Amino acid sequence: MNFELRVFEPSAVSREKCDVSLVLVSNNFQAGKDALSVLIAKALKSGDLEAKAGQVLDIYRPIGFVATHVVLVHVADGSPADVRKGVAAAVAAVKGAKPKHVTLGFLQQPSAQALRVAVTTLADASYAYTTTKSDKKGRHIEKVMVAVPDDKALSAGFVRAVAAVSGIELAKEWGNRPANYATPTHLAGVAKALAKFSRVKVDVLGHKEVDKLGMGALLAVAKGSDEPLRFIVMHYNGAAKSDAPVVLVGKGITFDSGGISIKPAAEMDEMKYDMCGAASVLGVFRALAELQPNINVVGLIAACENLPGSRAVKPGDVVTSMSGQTIEVLNTDAEGRLVLCDALTYAERFKPYAVLDIATLTGACVVALGGVRSGFFTVDALLSAGLMAASESSQDLCWQMPLDDDYAEGLKTSFADVANVAGRAGGAVTAAKFLQRFTAKYRWAHLDIAGTAWKSGATKGATGRPVGLLLDYLLDQAKAGSVD
Ligand code: BES
Ligand code: MN
Ligand code: ZN
Repeated sequence: MNFELRVFEPSAVSREKCDVSLVLVSNNFQAGKDALSVLIAKALKSGDLEAKAGQVLDIYRPIGFVATHVVLVHVADGSPADVRKGVAAAVAAVKGAKPKHVTLGFLQQPSAQALRVAVTTLADASYAYTTTKSDKKGRHIEKVMVAVPDDKALSAGFVRAVAAVSGIELAKEWGNRPANYATPTHLAGVAKALAKFSRVKVDVLGHKEVDKLGMGALLAVAKGSDEPLRFIVMHYNGAAKSDAPVVLVGKGITFDSGGISIKPAAEMDEMKYDMCGAASVLGVFRALAELQPNINVVGLIAACENLPGSRAVKPGDVVTSMSGQTIEVLNTDAEGRLVLCDALTYAERFKPYAVLDIATLTGACVVALGGVRSGFFTVDALLSAGLMAASESSQDLCWQMPLDDDYAEGLKTSFADVANVAGRAGGAVTAAKFLQRFTAKYRWAHLDIAGTAWKSGATKGATGRPVGLLLDYLLDQAKAGSVD
């Protein structure tokens, strides 16, 4: 899909050659004399367009307009949240028309954030997966003209939005691919392909190197499968070497059967999505490669399958992590924290400004927060504030969860330094407490995206989250000059 930004003249909309013209109307709409303004004023006055975010009026072949559909959509006060609601409703309203050329017009100058949310929402609402289907007809929309009153003021924000879309769509694509089309080796291939961009470097470690590093926890999970593991190390070097990087760590379980502690059959297919943390790291790198910001970022991906088999790790086995801590694997289905703990120890060598891990870690987080907000865990006030700000600006929402030490009680065991599971209660927090043991050397946050990385049911599919959140966090940190 091709996005273009240009200046918006309400009087030119009637002559605009496109299939669908989406016009965003906010509370400060002021009627002019042009045909479009007259139309909007009438629609508002009659109540056919209600002044509420997400209200849509689809007008078919209005007289004097070239577009087949002129869709008026209300975005209330134009906040990112309202723009998201409005654009999603507008795209849904015209989906049946299968438009190729779309104009997205802002009558009032949007904030950079509102513009970004409009672009990412339009991309999201029009996405279609085709890779493993013989019918390759994907999304209908080919070209989107984004029109604003002052394009110069928004060109940087627009470039960020378009890059966010590339990153989000890369994450969606790899999330959606079935496990036999998205093995650890495939993910390493995606990372290597990103190394063709300037400032991106990629190293891929296999079993031998991981063994040498002493990553006993990652090795224990990978053991049950013939599919070889990959530990992927990505660098985006946009600042001086002395600038401490932010390290992103992605859980890359390309299929999670549960291992010997096998999962029930119903919905087990959805465990192909257990690499969405890894996919989000790849997506962020795609966007960084496009934007070339002056920051340093390291991406680490621990990728393997979690399968049962004669060589698989068994409940009760004790393994030694790279940190030296021994772990009693009481449940082989709590494998995410095992692969992550070794990656978190590996992260120390970069002397990071901060480390963020991203993982589809617990069903308990889905119970706690559903599909609306990702959970994040940190004891660092700066990281917490940065993530909350990015949550709002990107509309890729998250919410802070607790890390009280009392939650770690259940991880105690007589047979190792720590057990990999506690009781059922507070499962998202006990998982975070497990990870926290490996993060003493740096500022750290953990994102549990189990509820937000994909949707189930009729609209089943990867969401590309939290690429938008992470990208805003990284770029706003850079702007604030706090990455040093
Ligand atoms: N990948 C799953 C978490 C998950 C489950 C995400 C369902 C989304 C939907 C993870 O590896 C897992 O199996 N976690 C267990 C932990 C338990 C054994 C302590 C869980 O949440 O049930
Ligand atoms: Mn599991
Ligand atoms: Zn898992």
